[in-house]
Amino acid sequence: MTEKDFILKNTNTNSLKTGSFSWQSPSNIALVKYWGKSEPQIPKNTSISFTLNKCHTNTTLEFFKKEIPSDDFNIKVIFENKVNDEFKPKIEQFFKRIVKYVPFITEYNFVIKTQNSFPHSSGIASSASGMSALALCLMSLEKKLNPSVTEKYFKQKASFLARLGSGSAARSIEGELIVWGEHQEIPNSSDLYGIKFLYPIHENFKNYHDTILLVDKGEKQVSSTVGHDLMHGHPFAQQRFEQAKKNISAISKILQNGNLEAFVKLVESEALTLHAMMLTSDPYFILMKSNTLKIIENIWEFRNKTKSNICFTLDAGANVHVLFPEREKKKVNAFIIRDLVPLCQNNQYICDKVGLGARQF
Ligand code: PMV
Repeated sequence: MTEKDFILKNTNTNSLKTGSFSWQSPSNIALVKYWGKSEPQIPKNTSISFTLNKCHTNTTLEFFKKEIPSDDFNIKVIFENKVNDEFKPKIEQFFKRIVKYVPFITEYNFVIKTQNSFPHSSGIASSASGMSALALCLMSLEKKLNPSVTEKYFKQKASFLARLGSGSAARSIEGELIVWGEHQEIPNSSDLYGIKFLYPIHENFKNYHDTILLVDKGEKQVSSTVGHDLMHGHPFAQQRFEQAKKNISAISKILQNGNLEAFVKLVESEALTLHAMMLTSDPYFILMKSNTLKIIENIWEFRNKTKSNICFTLDAGANVHVLFPEREKKKVNAFIIRDLVPLCQNNQYICDKVGLGARQF
């Protein structure tokens, strides 16, 4: 598939005046991280993520045919039952980016009603679940206008559109493991959209747990858009992209052979490398907080003592994702509650696990 395959032509909107579509779309957590991109939202390296189950966004897109067609967008955003103008510029920018592929969006006025399952400003990125939910609603509208759209094309284009809203959103359409970005050892992988990891996944990684520790709920000082940009001219950028490429090959084998020890090493190294890129960019910045480091130390101590396969990963923030296999949930949960939750802001944490992807409601 090429970019041109996603351009929709000759849609007749005359018979569809109004309606609505609703999708629930999950967040995801990258194991091999995406950090650095070129225009338009093309990743500098391949990434792979677990789709989450409980952390999701519910979005309803209502559409009303315009009396007189116009090129501007008329979008009203209702977030958690209140009109919200804060998100409008980001959504308008998203619409401008995707209008070439879904031209019918100029013919409707929209009301977007959206809410997250996780607490507002918890520091959990909602762009992946939010943008993918909206992209799926727009694809439902495209399918209504053009019923010949196949299920495969529907998902691919939803991921393609979501990517243009937020890169990692490309990985939030399906489950349980999603690869985004071309890689020679992953057949059909693409820079344009995410694909399911197609090799059989070892039992050890089934129902994998991700407990998210909310260390700091404040606004990030540096957005991921700025962070991605700082990879241009970064002294270690090329080595990082090479390393990610090798880590994709390695994790692909690990996910099939079930080697938990190798998984722990690779995933933690990826998280620390992501933050090392931030520490060594110009300007440099730190998103971890002191409790992020304390949690990491406690995890390492617990692992040494108990030989557990617990590990951590981080996204672009201070919160810690604690990953562990289903069979260890009892002892690890007890450890988390005793030794890690007191290090969270207001003791807040979310018990999540690997999920199956978005669903219409
Ligand atoms: O999708 P963005 O532009 O918010 O970038 C997200 C990047 C990381 O979360 C840090 C890593 C990843 O692959 O999800």
